[in-house]
Amino acid sequence: MKKILLSCVSVVFAVLPLAAQVPVTKTDPETELAMIFTISFIVFVIATLMYIIGVMNANVDPIADLYYRIKNYIVPPPSEVAPDVGHIYDDIRELDNRIPPWFNYLFGITVVFAFVYMTDYHVLGLSKLSTDEYQEEVVAANLQKKIMMASGGSINENALVALKDAESLKEGGESFQKFCVSCHGPQAGGLVGPNLTDEYWIHGGGIKNVYTTIKKGVPAKGMISWELVFSQKQMQNIGSYVLSLQGTNPLGGKGPEGQKYVEPVIAAAKDTAKAKTL
Ligand code: HEC
Repeated sequence: MKKILLSCVSVVFAVLPLAAQVPVTKTDPETELAMIFTISFIVFVIATLMYIIGVMNANVDPIADLYYRIKNYIVPPPSEVAPDVGHIYDDIRELDNRIPPWFNYLFGITVVFAFVYMTDYHVLGLSKLSTDEYQEEVVAANLQKKIMMASGGSINENALVALKDAESLKEGGESFQKFCVSCHGPQAGGLVGPNLTDEYWIHGGGIKNVYTTIKKGVPAKGMISWELVFSQKQMQNIGSYVLSLQGTNPLGGKGPEGQKYVEPVIAAAKDTAKAKTL
C-alpha cells in the first residue's frame, strides 16, 4: 500500500515539470482559471498523500492525529516541553517544537488572501489584470492624441519656427508656470533642471532642439516626455516662450551647462542668401 502511494506521489512529481513545459497558446481567463484549479488540486492531493504516508509511518490513528494537530494549531499547548520525536542523528535529538502562533496566523492570512485575490482577479474579474490595464492606457493615450490632433493642435514639425506673437507666448508662459517651474524655476533660471535663459544648452538651443527636448523629455535625468500632455501647438508655444527668455539672466540663476549654442540653420540661410546676391 505504502509503495503504491509513494509511486503515485513520484509520478505526480515527474508529471508536474512536464506539464509546465507544454506551451500554453490559449491564455484566456477560463484556461487560466482551469490551470489554477488543476494545480491547486494536484497540490492538495500531494499534501494529502504525504500526510497519509506520514501517519502510516508513525503508526497512529489518523483521525486522532489530525484532530490533535488542528487543536494544537489553534490553541497551542501551554507546556514548553516539546515532545521528543524519537529521531537521533549524531547525538542530536529532534524535538517537535511548536511553531510560534504569530507565524501560523500569518500563514493563515496568506491563504485567505490568496483566495480573495483569485476570486477578485480571476473569477469575478472585479480588478483588472496588468495586461488589461496596460491595453486600456494605450487606447486612452491614442484617443487623447487623436482628440488633440482633431482640435487643431497639430503643426508641421519639420518647419518649426519660434513664435513671437503675444498670444502664443502668453499661452506658453502659462503652461510653463504650471508644469515647468518646479524644476526650472519661476524665471527659468534653473533648479533641478538647467538654466534655460542663457546661451548654453545641453540638448541644443533653437526652437527645433528645445521643442524636441520638451516633446521627448530627458527621462534619464527626471524630465518626462510632454508629448501626451500637450498638443504640438502647445509645445511650440512653450518652446517659443522658453526662447523668449534668452538673456533675461534671472537673479540666482544657475551657471551655464552644456555647449554655447549657435543657430546653424540661420548661418546656412545667410550663406545661401549671400550666394544668391553674388
Ligand atoms: C521633474 C523636473 C523637470 C520638469 C518638471 C521639467 N524639466 Fe526640463 N529638464 C529637467 C532636467 C533635469 C533637465 C536637464 C537634462 C539633462 O541634464 O540632460 C531638463 C532639461 C530641459 C531642457 C533642455 C535644457 C538644455 O540645456 O538643453 C529644456 C528646454 C527643458 N528642460 C524644458 C522644460 C519645459 C518646457 C518643461 C515644462 C513643460 C520642463 N522642462 C519641465 C527637469 C525638468
